[in-house]
Amino acid sequence: MKVTRNPLHRIAAIAVAGAAAGLLLSAGPASAQQPKIKIGLMLPYTGTFAALGTSITNAFKLAIDENGGKLGGREIEYFTVDDESDPAKAPDNANKLIKRDQVDVLVGTVHSGVALAMAKLARDNNTLLVIPNAGADDITGPLCAANVFRTSFSNSQMGIAMGKVMAEQKKKTAVTLTWKYAAGDESVGGFKETFEAGGGKVIKELSLPFPQVEFQSYLTEIAALKPDVVYVFFAGGGAVKFVKDYAAAGLNKTIPLVGAGFLTDGTLEAQGDAAQGLLTTLHYGDGLTNPKNNAFRAAYAKAFKTDPDVYAVQGYDAAQLLIIGMNAVKGDTTKRAEIVKAMESAKIDSPRGSLALSKGHNPIHDIYLRKVEGKENKVIGVAVKDLTDPPRGCKL
Ligand code: PHB
Repeated sequence: MKVTRNPLHRIAAIAVAGAAAGLLLSAGPASAQQPKIKIGLMLPYTGTFAALGTSITNAFKLAIDENGGKLGGREIEYFTVDDESDPAKAPDNANKLIKRDQVDVLVGTVHSGVALAMAKLARDNNTLLVIPNAGADDITGPLCAANVFRTSFSNSQMGIAMGKVMAEQKKKTAVTLTWKYAAGDESVGGFKETFEAGGGKVIKELSLPFPQVEFQSYLTEIAALKPDVVYVFFAGGGAVKFVKDYAAAGLNKTIPLVGAGFLTDGTLEAQGDAAQGLLTTLHYGDGLTNPKNNAFRAAYAKAFKTDPDVYAVQGYDAAQLLIIGMNAVKGDTTKRAEIVKAMESAKIDSPRGSLALSKGHNPIHDIYLRKVEGKENKVIGVAVKDLTDPPRGCKL
């Protein structure tokens, strides 16, 4: 496990403490002596989702740095664990942060299976959890909790949006393909729901275990089935390989490939020509021109010498949400009910557009239709406006 402390923050803290000491006679004991707020980052830094974990971490820290390196006026100490996107290791990894390091806030993760385990531990230990990616529907549905928030999306949202668009385009038959776990199943489930409600038919649901990338036999089957469209959920390194394999098999010339936007987000550099023209649905697009997105993209590019992706947006918004919560109590983490109340009613100025949370603490946001043009996921329309989750039995 790696513990990261920012020396600049320490110098700043010493300076503040020094200044406060000078005022001591007149002002009394200074609040600069408050202990640091401990943030536990549990994210993938190795494996097929490694780049996603890095984007989230970068942007989370960027938002905190833009806020003076503080939460509610208190300095921050980061504790970092690589969860390897491995659900089997999730309880041990989360307990390192919750029990051993006693973090005030847990932030993570990318993989739905890992996040489900984190959410259970967060509920059992009453630890504040902010999820900056993993979309497992149940976490903000039947398993919702006062102390669990998500700044990303729920898995079915992207499928719901693309199923609607494909039905509107009068596609009649579809084949779906995904990794077989909560994220893929729910993404495909959303697609099937709206595609079939709009008159289409999913003729075959294909899947392979996470994080396998041996796609050849599935491509052969798709070629034989000849559907009007193929809908997939893949992300990270697996998405890069899938899009390249689909094109190498020549299928991009005959059967349109569409997907949840993770298929082409943060991946275009590596996918190159193979991704050109692909349609995806996502709550973000590179070319959004709202002022917050312009400022965010410029700051991220300056700090990290690379363009941000959707994962960076979600990490940035996780920090923005915590800033709102902690400001409401001036950093007093014992005032949990007030923190939760402030976070529940937060209006986040997100690079994706303005963002509010549902009753289950999941984003209500526009889902964009995007088309790959060059190195950009260009927004060509809004597939669904203000999409919120259907009530799934969340009792809060
Ligand atoms: C998930 O497991 O929930 C997941 C992973 C990667 C993504 C999106 C969702 O890009």
